[in-house]
Amino acid sequence: MAGIAIIGYGYWGPNLVRNFSGLAGASVEWVVDMRTERLEIIKKQYPNTRTTSNLDDALNDPKVTAVVVATPVQYHYVLAKKALEAGKHVLIEKPMTQSSAEAEELVAISKERGLVLMVDHTFLYTGAVRKIKDLITSGEIGDIQYFDSTRINLGLFQPDINVLWDLAPHDISILFYLIQDRPVSVSATGISHTPNGLENVAYLTVNYNTGHIAHFSCSWSSPVKIRKILIGGTKKMIVFDDVEPSEKVKVYDTGYTVKSDEDKRKLLVDYRAGDIYVPKLEQREALAGMASDFVSAIEKGTTPVSDWRVGLEVVKVLEAAQESIKNKGKEVAIKFD
Ligand SMILES: NC(=O)c1ccc[n+]([C@@H]2O[C@H](COP(=O)([O-])OP(=O)(O)OC[C@H]3O[C@@H](n4cnc5c(N)ncnc54)[C@H](O)[C@@H]3O)[C@@H](O)[C@H]2O)c1
Repeated sequence: MAGIAIIGYGYWGPNLVRNFSGLAGASVEWVVDMRTERLEIIKKQYPNTRTTSNLDDALNDPKVTAVVVATPVQYHYVLAKKALEAGKHVLIEKPMTQSSAEAEELVAISKERGLVLMVDHTFLYTGAVRKIKDLITSGEIGDIQYFDSTRINLGLFQPDINVLWDLAPHDISILFYLIQDRPVSVSATGISHTPNGLENVAYLTVNYNTGHIAHFSCSWSSPVKIRKILIGGTKKMIVFDDVEPSEKVKVYDTGYTVKSDEDKRKLLVDYRAGDIYVPKLEQREALAGMASDFVSAIEKGTTPVSDWRVGLEVVKVLEAAQESIKNKGKEVAIKFD
């Protein structure tokens, strides 16, 4: 039985407490939050879970084998490090840390101590993303040519991170899950309309040298909520619209063939617009799958789908994007191991 302590009971923490509490093989032993008023809610809903504002209470409890960090990003590194050093397995909310140096240090500690280190990139556990992965792996879509995501709404301005660090981790983790190649560079632009200088509208382009391109549009300043990813393949195209209540994924038998005339000056494009179909998706709550993956990694030594590698790679992209924004969209190279 994995004994879990969850740090942070704000907006997202309650979803984690609910899912870990409902999981066979796990028990939520402690919830830790600096705000005591948040802990009062736990006492009523989960009478067997203890609460504290002092993390040491949870770390000193031998029943606690794993810690989940669900605080704002600026505290991820310090809390995760403390938990790893106390010998606990750690799950961190996305994005993993505020820098790749911090993420790499956590990875080194977890390896040295033989502990699981995982990041909650929840979308990798959705029925929609899993179905898209199957469609790509089976070859039905052909070679991927582009991945274009829009994640915009009148969003909650975060006090410690810009809109890319807040919203793009979802889409970057999906991109890396779907496409095995890794990009070579990024360029990004953005603008802040607040005194803290954190961008609330941003655009990120991710460049590969293997025939695909990816683009991300993120905003907290949009009058409408759009959560849409378009994936273009050489055989078919996919639209993933997460705002749709049921028909989230649509597969378009749409494409084109390009020929050029003899002197290659004139392009001849043949278009094809065929059927559209809506595949059936697994209905399980994504967070339940994520929680179960973490517990299985602890209990059985399996490698989680959303392990530290994805977490670190996403942070590397965000860090490079930040540098590019600072330099007005300059292309910034990224290296992955
Ligand atoms: N996976 C997802 O889809 C998803 C969705 C939303 C948020 N998140 C992530 O979850 C994390 C939390 O986001 P949120 O929106 O719930 O934030 P929030 O501000 O609503 O809640 C954070 C809570 O952590 C507590 N806290 C802060 N520092 C603490 C500390 N040092 N010790 C103990 N408690 C502390 C605060 O009192 C607060 O109750 C962020 O990393 C965010 O990116 C993930």
